Amino acid sequence: MVVDLAGRTAVVTGGGTGIGRAVSIGFARCGASVVVNYSRSAQEAAETVAEIEGAGGRALAFRADVTDEQQVADLMTAAVERFGGLDILVANAGAPGQGGRTSELTGEQWEHDLATNCRSAFFCVKHAMAHLPDGRGRIILTGSMSARTGATAGALTYVASKAAMEGMTRNWAQEFGPRGITVNTIAPGIIRTRLQARASEERYRYLIGRIPLGRDGLPGDCVGAYLLLAGDDGAYITGQVIEVGGGMLAS
Ligand SMILES: NC(=O)c1ccc[n+]([C@@H]2O[C@H](COP(=O)([O-])OP(=O)(O)OC[C@H]3O[C@@H](n4cnc5c(N)ncnc54)[C@H](OP(=O)(O)O)[C@@H]3O)[C@@H](O)[C@H]2O)c1
Repeated sequence: MVVDLAGRTAVVTGGGTGIGRAVSIGFARCGASVVVNYSRSAQEAAETVAEIEGAGGRALAFRADVTDEQQVADLMTAAVERFGGLDILVANAGAPGQGGRTSELTGEQWEHDLATNCRSAFFCVKHAMAHLPDGRGRIILTGSMSARTGATAGALTYVASKAAMEGMTRNWAQEFGPRGITVNTIAPGIIRTRLQARASEERYRYLIGRIPLGRDGLPGDCVGAYLLLAGDDGAYITGQVIEVGGGMLAS
């Protein structure tokens, strides 16, 4: 996809691995300066930055735990200080969750999992808003098709967090629309990353059997949707959930 992001700066949380890494590299190829956020995967973030810089792009690896509001604020400030502004936020960081089936799930696990996947998006948007430019600011969240499918038993906190993000997307579209800032969620289906590596082979085969395109996705399969929403051609799309899953919900 040809999208011109020259002169724009993006923050991608969880930008050093999986989908976030593919988005970081895809944005940089289109001319954006990219802040590659990580919390534990320092080496992967450094490799992502090296790949971008090796291709002539501009990137910065920045450690911030997205469950910590001050660290999130510092992440957004770092983007502005290093690259002179912040135009695009991709709140992508997420984890499968510690919690399990309802009867064993504790309140602490619930809080932890929603803090990682969903409260983190609130912190990111809150602190990005101070910097995003009116008229062309972009917010893209990484949700999940599981908000629609319900995933599998034991994934309650994950599904709850991703479903909440869809509502937050529609609410933020109302709140920030008057400033010309768009807010959308990409909901991936089954994408081959370390997050899916937890699934058993049997379950993975079952899931792929439900995909009309007949295969799982690669992180790169998601990038076009993020680029569409980030670039000028996405300026009139807001409050939407775009599923990238090989037609999984069509079956
Ligand atoms: N793969 C799929 O099939 C699929 C489907 C639907 C939705 N998704 C969503 O896609 C997003 C990316 O996941 P992925 O599949 O690409 O798996 P992944 O490679 O495991 O990526 C998850 C990223 O989130 C980051 N992260 C987790 N907790 C964090 C924290 N507290 N602070 C900062 N960063 C944190 C991780 O960074 P660190 O390692 O540095 O902590 C990692 O880079 C997630 O939101 C996930 O829910 C994935």
